Amino acid sequence: MTPPILRPQNPCFSSGPCAKRPGWRLDGLAGAALGRSHRSAAGKARLAELIDRTRAILGIPADYRIGIVPASDTGAFELALWSLLGPRGVDVFTWESFGETWSADIARQLKLTDLRTFDAPYGRLPDLGRAAPDRDIVFTWNGTTSGVRVPNADWIADDRRGLTLCDATSAAFAMDLPWRKLDVATWSWQKALGGEAQHGMVALGPHAVERLQSHTPPWPMPKIFRLVQDAALIEGVFRGETINTPSMLAVEDHLDALKWASRIGGLPALIARSEANLSAIENWVAGSSWAAFLAEDAATRSCTSVCLRVSDSAVPKKLAALLEAEGVAYDIDAYRHAPPGLRIWAGATIETDDLRRLLPWLDWAFGQITAS
Ligand SMILES: Cc1ncc(COP(=O)(O)O)c(C=O)c1O
Repeated sequence: MTPPILRPQNPCFSSGPCAKRPGWRLDGLAGAALGRSHRSAAGKARLAELIDRTRAILGIPADYRIGIVPASDTGAFELALWSLLGPRGVDVFTWESFGETWSADIARQLKLTDLRTFDAPYGRLPDLGRAAPDRDIVFTWNGTTSGVRVPNADWIADDRRGLTLCDATSAAFAMDLPWRKLDVATWSWQKALGGEAQHGMVALGPHAVERLQSHTPPWPMPKIFRLVQDAALIEGVFRGETINTPSMLAVEDHLDALKWASRIGGLPALIARSEANLSAIENWVAGSSWAAFLAEDAATRSCTSVCLRVSDSAVPKKLAALLEAEGVAYDIDAYRHAPPGLRIWAGATIETDDLRRLLPWLDWAFGQITAS
């Protein structure tokens, strides 16, 4: 079989750090506040702008606080778990590696005993209908390692008394997040806008802020998790006075991505790009004799981290290596703890034309590997 003629112009299909935005250039960051204190007026202005632009693009309500916090999404989500959980029973929903980590940390690190865990194997969702409105709910909007997302938040009660804590890192900037259903959401810079892995982001609704101010966790709180001092919220964190030092280069890079997102039409345009990418892969899978979605229900298919099963489980690693060697696709092997398969990032920074060019290469590589 001869290889396809066209190649993706950008072979970066990794699920994090993800492809930079179309047209990104390093010299576009030349105006970064490098060598300046993040606590200088110039530094704080950049950080505040990042928060403001994020609120505008994601449509986060004015009464939600948005903070830039240490250690990417992991830091942001652990900060939320450690700061907020404890006063109520907790329902955790897990269906892939990241949810399993949060569940394990709640049980083994925080040692909460009034804990109900609802698990599902890779490819499925647990029964979300089991969520109790008087308990805290912990879940991941998009399971990056299985390519399974929640189809909506209808299962979260509007009049709940517990908090919802949502790891939204591979959903933000690609999916519609219903903020009033999410008391806490976290994400990182390196995912759907193709930023640099660095600080994380947390959005806190009014009920989460009330909890922060009324509840003192019984366990020690490391400085990098502390949002409260003397029972009062440290408001500066939500104006860009970060707990510790961020990279001003990474900040500038994320600002660049946020400006691009505004230029192309904001969240609706980001979602449309990502959904168009999913559709391109869906069309190809529909005609494939060897690849299928890991997500069993089409309504739960992720439009960012698209995970595919392959008829022969020995193939994906070889296929990913072959396409990497060809310079056609980087990092498309499944996540290390997921079942063997392919994972192709399809978020808004990926050009649909590049995905369309990749798909015949998948068939070519499959043919090469299975013929030998
Ligand atoms: C759902 C989810 N949670 C958490 C993480 C960890 O994010 P980070 O490495 O930015 O801390 C990832 C990264 O892929 C993720 O996809």
